[in-house]
Amino acid sequence: MGVILVVDDEPLQREILKNILSDEGYEAHAASSGEEAVKMVRSVNPDVVLTDLKMKQIDGIELMEKIKSEGELPAVILMTAFGSVSSAVEAMKKGAFDYLTKPLEKEMVLLTVRRALNTAELLRKNRELRDALYDKIGINEIVCKSGVMKEVVKVIQKVSDTSVTVLILGESGTGKELVTRAIHFGSSRASKPFTAINCAAIPENLLESELFGCEPGAFTGASARRAGLFEASNGGTVFLDEIGDLPLLTQSKILRILQEKEVRRLGGRDAIRIDVRIIAATNKDLEKEIKNGRFREDLYYRLRIVTIDLPPLRERREDIPELAGHFLEKYNREFGKRIRGVQEPVMKAFLEYHWPGNIRQMESVIERAVLMCEGSTVSMKEIKGELRTSQKQEILDLELPDEGINFEEFENELLKKAMAKANNVAAKAAKLLGMSYKTFWYRWEKLNAGNSSPKKEDVP
Ligand SMILES: Nc1ncnc2c1ncn2[C@@H]1O[C@H](COP(=O)(O)OP(=O)(O)OP(=O)(O)O)[C@@H](O)[C@H]1O
Ligand SMILES: [Mg+2]
Repeated sequence: MGVILVVDDEPLQREILKNILSDEGYEAHAASSGEEAVKMVRSVNPDVVLTDLKMKQIDGIELMEKIKSEGELPAVILMTAFGSVSSAVEAMKKGAFDYLTKPLEKEMVLLTVRRALNTAELLRKNRELRDALYDKIGINEIVCKSGVMKEVVKVIQKVSDTSVTVLILGESGTGKELVTRAIHFGSSRASKPFTAINCAAIPENLLESELFGCEPGAFTGASARRAGLFEASNGGTVFLDEIGDLPLLTQSKILRILQEKEVRRLGGRDAIRIDVRIIAATNKDLEKEIKNGRFREDLYYRLRIVTIDLPPLRERREDIPELAGHFLEKYNREFGKRIRGVQEPVMKAFLEYHWPGNIRQMESVIERAVLMCEGSTVSMKEIKGELRTSQKQEILDLELPDEGINFEEFENELLKKAMAKANNVAAKAAKLLGMSYKTFWYRWEKLNAGNSSPKKEDVP
């Protein structure tokens, strides 16, 4: 397998080469000039460009320079007439993969092309291996003990090998990017680029040229021709993180990519066909954004064909022990430690905590604990202070159960707790609950808990 572009202004030569390569099982394309070749490199995204050196207007070396200046990756093989070896050497210096001298021999052509493809493959593999540790997260890396997460994993499996657009919703740190990567690396696009774009992080004036690329003079300062991130991700997946922060005008261009499957560089005339899968994520309420005129409704409907809702960690506490084990193992490996687990009070604290930063927060708590831990298990000492948030927040975060609560019972519990903490000094207990002594005493009497009456001498 491999995509090869043949460039030659001589029709017969061009056709013969194209046929030889097609017969060999390659996807072969042909261009009759350097200009045409530049366009085709963008549209067919070849692995190898086999070009004649001498052509009118743009010659082979110029073509190669153009391709490279646009950040394209194909290996370039130059074909030179017998005797013009010096220009071939020059071409090699400028980064050509190899050169062939005419008259061409079929076997020599095929051999060189195969070598170029192998090298490209090796380079790609190498890049992948380097990234593997962090980037190639597959579905197996997703901890999913809870019912909701098991469902999420099922959806991921179902949509992975389609090109369907997916919208992922969830608070910060709930695993939106992890899910996106699992979809990409579980799909046939896995060997193609995965590009994550944080729409909120790129300044608005740079965003469009980053995404869509630009032609020289498209705006002040745009001197070079450049491919955008969408073009560069051709064949792969683009992750639009924080899509709720995208300006309206840019939203309409994204919609165009979804509908027409083409992009137009800023200042460019021709639309460029691309094949990318889009996965979007946000923790904003997009329907509210639509009502406020900040998000396009038509784009929203295109994006949410499949929606994955990642609940906050506090709503899927069954995942907590497993996640703890997962991260413990990860950081044991990273720091070369052998911590066996977390002590019971630690697990209890984990299970009760409301995790405002969700899984990301849990990961960093455990990372730090593993680093600090001197014993064989993580104790409260290592997580002390890490789980602190305002308790008020924690109480406010509690959801009322469906069956409701008994308010008076709660009130009485609080009165008792305050009294215990104040060592039965009613004035102190009142202060703890932010009430006057009179109010406290009145309620305390009403509760009539009896066995712990306040010390008389403390009553002011
Ligand atoms: N179910 C899970 N199993 C294992 N690891 C997880 C899980 N969910 C999240 N993580 C890990 O938690 C960290 C945060 O996840 P991720 O970056 O995907 O969250 P996010 O939703 O994109 O967050 P943000 O909104 O802050 O960008 C990552 O290191 C990720 O690998
Ligand atoms: Mg993220």
